[in-house]
Amino acid sequence: MKTIISVVGARPNFMKVAPLHKAFQKHAGSVRHLIVHTGQHYDEAMSKVFFGDLELPQPDFYLGVGSGTHAQQTAKIMVEFEKVLEQVHPDLVIVVGDVNSTVACSLVSVKLGIPVAHVEAGLRSGDRTMPEEINRLLTDAIADDLFVTEASGVANLRKEGVEEKKIHLVGNVMIDSLMHYREKAKQSTIIETLGVKPKQFTLVTLHRPSNVDTEEGLGKILTIFERIAAHTEIVFPVHPRTTKMLAQHGLGARAKAIPSLRLLDPIGYLDFLNLVDNAQLVLTDSGGIQEETTFLGIPCLTLRENTERPITCDIGTNDLCGLDVEKVVARSEAIFLGTQKRGRIPELWDGNSAKRIVEVLISKI
Ligand code: UD1
Repeated sequence: MKTIISVVGARPNFMKVAPLHKAFQKHAGSVRHLIVHTGQHYDEAMSKVFFGDLELPQPDFYLGVGSGTHAQQTAKIMVEFEKVLEQVHPDLVIVVGDVNSTVACSLVSVKLGIPVAHVEAGLRSGDRTMPEEINRLLTDAIADDLFVTEASGVANLRKEGVEEKKIHLVGNVMIDSLMHYREKAKQSTIIETLGVKPKQFTLVTLHRPSNVDTEEGLGKILTIFERIAAHTEIVFPVHPRTTKMLAQHGLGARAKAIPSLRLLDPIGYLDFLNLVDNAQLVLTDSGGIQEETTFLGIPCLTLRENTERPITCDIGTNDLCGLDVEKVVARSEAIFLGTQKRGRIPELWDGNSAKRIVEVLISKI
């Protein structure tokens, strides 16, 4: 019996590990698949609700590291994860995405001689001021197997001199989850609860430090809402970082005064998927949501200067706008009038990515 550990830490990790866990269950006679939750995200709405929605078992280990500076958080994860590896001696560690838990657990594993597989490898924004870009570069430099979602990731890894045998273009595990749960998400009653109508609202998610940590950035975001509010309902589940920053910069009252802006607490996976599927437009700075909207054919304006997921712009429905108020307002209005980019679904985003990954890994351990 071989033992494999998958690491989850923050909200965008759960929907990536869920399909891997399901795929490993088919090999339960030969592989024990354990889940370690670092506790990087810990609020019920940022973490626990996803285990229920995605039918994940309780984590086998919960490290409870919580928030902190980058150094504190990364260091705490490393110290606690090392204890787990010394106890379990797994044959392989799987990390996903680009959060602090991803790089911290990769580093601990390779130093103990345990192979690491990185799922969602090779993505590059080219912007080293983003903590995630540093996490991606470092994780890919030390991981043994690199599972890639789109062709640009393969090109990036080749450019960095990664050996061909480590690179596997397998598609997108997050889309595996989306396809698996889309029907179930249709049963969510969130739209009725909010009193909005399908295709008549704009869904917003914004949490990047570059957008929300400064008063100027938050001010521009509120200006965008004020300018589009006459044409659309705005549904905004607010990330804890953004809530904290709105309060810190004294902008809560201005936000509350915007007609048709609904500020919500963070919501679970199924409710969120239902909202994306029914939105007329999505405004975001998330990575994953650029991909989910491309898959669903929903227009998406990304409030960033760059993206590590260029396929969503090249063939999908995504459009990079930066935090340029005029551009975002003009493109939103065009979409409200029915002018929208038609997209295609990228190659291998077909619901079988986890199966491909598990087949590769099982043949190796
Ligand atoms: C983290 C990831 C980011 C990812 C995002 C998704 C890193 C470096 N960043 O950013 O890549 O896109 O998650 O959500 O790994 N907080 C809570 N409750 C929680 C978690 C956080 O209230 O459960 C608050 C804390 O006040 C914390 C702040 O949110 O200080 C930011 O959390 P943190 O984990 O540092 O980064 P995120 O912005 O969530």
